[in-house]
Amino acid sequence: MAYETIIVDVENHVAQITLNRPDALNALNDELMKELADALSAAQDNEKVRCIIITGSEKAFAAGADIAMMKDKSFVEAFSGDLFTPETEQIMRIRKPIIAAVSGYALGGGCELAMMCDFIICSETAKFGQPEINLGVVAGIGGTQRLTRIVGKSKAMDMNLTGRFMDAEEAERSGLASRVVPCKKLLEEAQSAAQKIAEKSMISVMVVKEAVNRAYEVPLREGLLFERRMFHALFATEDQSEGMSAFLEKREAQFRDK
Ligand code: HXC
Repeated sequence: MAYETIIVDVENHVAQITLNRPDALNALNDELMKELADALSAAQDNEKVRCIIITGSEKAFAAGADIAMMKDKSFVEAFSGDLFTPETEQIMRIRKPIIAAVSGYALGGGCELAMMCDFIICSETAKFGQPEINLGVVAGIGGTQRLTRIVGKSKAMDMNLTGRFMDAEEAERSGLASRVVPCKKLLEEAQSAAQKIAEKSMISVMVVKEAVNRAYEVPLREGLLFERRMFHALFATEDQSEGMSAFLEKREAQFRDK
């Protein structure tokens, strides 16, 4: 399918989705969010795809929801339209791993989109922020909730109340980003992480994603039980037998997602 606001490349089992509204620093509008959700669902359905990367430009991953699009909305329009909710729910239903490769600005909805991904690799120039407070509103798709769970109350309050930006070093230190790399190496690093994931058994990969995400939803005892039962369940797979045999036979495992 041809998209207007994103570019999709599928190569070596990885779908790379590049946000592409350069004139607006990849600000998220209805069209972009619909296309992104559609491309992610297509990647989910494509058997060749084993990992997904979402990225932007060198200057901006995404500078937030499109302010021009939102400016004249009434309460009723905002409430009834429920901006981006169907798309974010569609994104959250993707079972394959999604890496956010962030360079430059990841602000407002851009930071929130990055946090919806499974982990964030960023470049040294990355700047994360929830500056909605400067617009007389607040975060709307996770900036007060996901950010708090990721970096804790103090930093989440600081970012949401002052609207200040967090640089790459602070983002890594706070657990928001998993790795920081030089700008020129960002996609190489994200691709290499995606390739590593693509080599694993897809069943274990999807279980990891479900189990880690469950840590945000349920009490520890329930999360541990879910993990343990999934661990037990994986003994029903051929990939468990192959993985353990390969280790003992000192060879590379050949996983078949079975
Ligand atoms: C619409 C945007 C935009 C945005 C940038 N642009 N961010 N357009 N919505 N969020 C446009 C600018 O208007 C400008 O267009 C062009 O992109 C380049 O931006 P500049 O501001 O000229 O660039 P620069 O001076 O380098 O500043 C970069 C910036 C700044 C610091 C990122 O653009 C900025 O503060 N942007 C807004 C960030 C923000 O408040 N995000 C939160 C949005 S609310 P022209 O046509 O003039 O060249 C949100 C809510 C989410 O995200 C919840 C949804 C449910």
